[in-house]
Amino acid sequence: MNPIDEINKRRTFGIVSHPDAGKTTLTEKLLLFGGAIQVAGAVKSNKIKKHATSDFMEIERQRGISVATSVMAFPYRDLQINILDTPGHKDFAEDTFRTLTAVDSVIVVIDVAKGVEEQTEKLVEVCRMRKTPIIVFINKLDREGKDAFDLMDEVETKLKLRVTPLTWPIGMGKDFQGVYSLYEKKFIGFRPHGKQEGEDVLVIKDVKDPQFISKIGNRPHQQLTEDLETIHGVYPDFKREDYLDGKICPVFYGSAVNNFGVRELLDCFVEIAPTPLPRDTEERRVIPTEEKMTGFVFKIHANMDPKHRDRIAFFRICSGKFERNTPYFHVRLARQLKFSNPTSFMAARKEVVDEAFPGDVVGLYDSGNFKIGDALTEGENLHFKGIPRFSPEIFRYVNNADPSKFKQFAKGLDQLMDEGVAQLFIKEDSGRKIIGVVGSLQFDVIQYRLEHEYNAACSYDPVTLHKALWVECNDPKVLTEFMARRKKDLAKDKDGKLVFLAESAWTLRLAQENFPEVRFHTSSEF
Ligand code: G4P
Repeated sequence: MNPIDEINKRRTFGIVSHPDAGKTTLTEKLLLFGGAIQVAGAVKSNKIKKHATSDFMEIERQRGISVATSVMAFPYRDLQINILDTPGHKDFAEDTFRTLTAVDSVIVVIDVAKGVEEQTEKLVEVCRMRKTPIIVFINKLDREGKDAFDLMDEVETKLKLRVTPLTWPIGMGKDFQGVYSLYEKKFIGFRPHGKQEGEDVLVIKDVKDPQFISKIGNRPHQQLTEDLETIHGVYPDFKREDYLDGKICPVFYGSAVNNFGVRELLDCFVEIAPTPLPRDTEERRVIPTEEKMTGFVFKIHANMDPKHRDRIAFFRICSGKFERNTPYFHVRLARQLKFSNPTSFMAARKEVVDEAFPGDVVGLYDSGNFKIGDALTEGENLHFKGIPRFSPEIFRYVNNADPSKFKQFAKGLDQLMDEGVAQLFIKEDSGRKIIGVVGSLQFDVIQYRLEHEYNAACSYDPVTLHKALWVECNDPKVLTEFMARRKKDLAKDKDGKLVFLAESAWTLRLAQENFPEVRFHTSSEF
């Protein structure tokens, strides 16, 4: 197959939701359609297996969250679908933000009873900034929930997205009869999972079709007619270009656990979702159809087995063809590297691949060569954009707790930071190390992993900090003065960039007033 056909076959996306909205269940149903798994429960039982075999995962189990972000590839119709899983827990939000840099579109799952929740708001904000095309799936229609119009309003106001429904629910909870597909002009009747095999579908040319009316009953039909009138009056017609530009989000209703509305979602998704998109670098825009291979690392996953300390770098291919055993140029290290076992992920299985194309994600075994954001090319110096670090929210001093293990401590901390577990800042005045995280769970993760993987120990001291801000100033004289005056508030990040550690919003405002020429950024990419 020629490379352009390979690119056109690919759909790479992420599913995001607040924990418990049904992301895992939906993922599983999609994998079932693709034949990537045979039995329901496989994704979850895989999670459980991991818990049982790995000590580190015990932390997750205890806290009831999923740390691992994985990639699941499966064929559907004649396409290749790549789902990048994202942890929903807020303490791992940075991980999710980074994974979102590697997708071309997103499905947002919302619980019909809970509506738009906090974590979803944050994740969608990142997608909106990047104009990532979004489809919304409102889940759990088998339960009583919010009114469908109220939910549409909530999505519009809280997520700041323009929406248009492509399916519409008829009833809800115990009165839930199914959905009417505005997209395909058909009624899909709801059958709770396990009650009856097959789908109950009625193709309708006209909503006034008597067969349809008698099927759902007069009252519900009357309600649907009124709803459809309102929908046509209020929401714009769906246009694929608007969706691809991130201007409009189609909305679907269903029940993942009952496998209801999922096929409609998937069938529409494969028709409208974007093929692999171009990616911007500091130097130029990379187009997927370019002949030469380029791509970037968006996630590093440590092997939890202390006997095998290797890590897997998740590498998104952006252009060209990635080939096994071929030397590629590691831009940051200015070195050629080749990979004898690049791995693809098929749900629970891993497989060595000989070649991969734009949109694909391969796992590269790594002994410490990669950092998040690293690029591989065929020789060109490219630095992919859009993988910024954001200001952490919680900070602590970190100390080496065992002087005889300093080397292990330094190496462990270094590698954990490369993986993006947290951010390290080194104070300009004292040389003390400060760790910044989004959720406090990461402090436990670091302590645990230093001990179990690096045989090192750390302790923490409290520090009151509001935010870390990356500093920029065009006037070297002003910058020197600023650095001299504010030395006690300054630090360097892991890449040696200057960072202002603001004790409070007030200190930050004061610094801004005193040094108007200095710019303070909340992300490392500006
Ligand atoms: P998450 O990955 O977004 O955190 O959510 P997950 O899929 O694990 O789903 C959270 C809970 O919601 C699960 O129940 C799941 O079965 C349930 N669920 C998912 N889709 C639907 C739906 O359409 N209707 C209803 N009523 N429930 C749904 P659980 O009790 O936490 O787990 P389990 O014991 O059922 O596996």
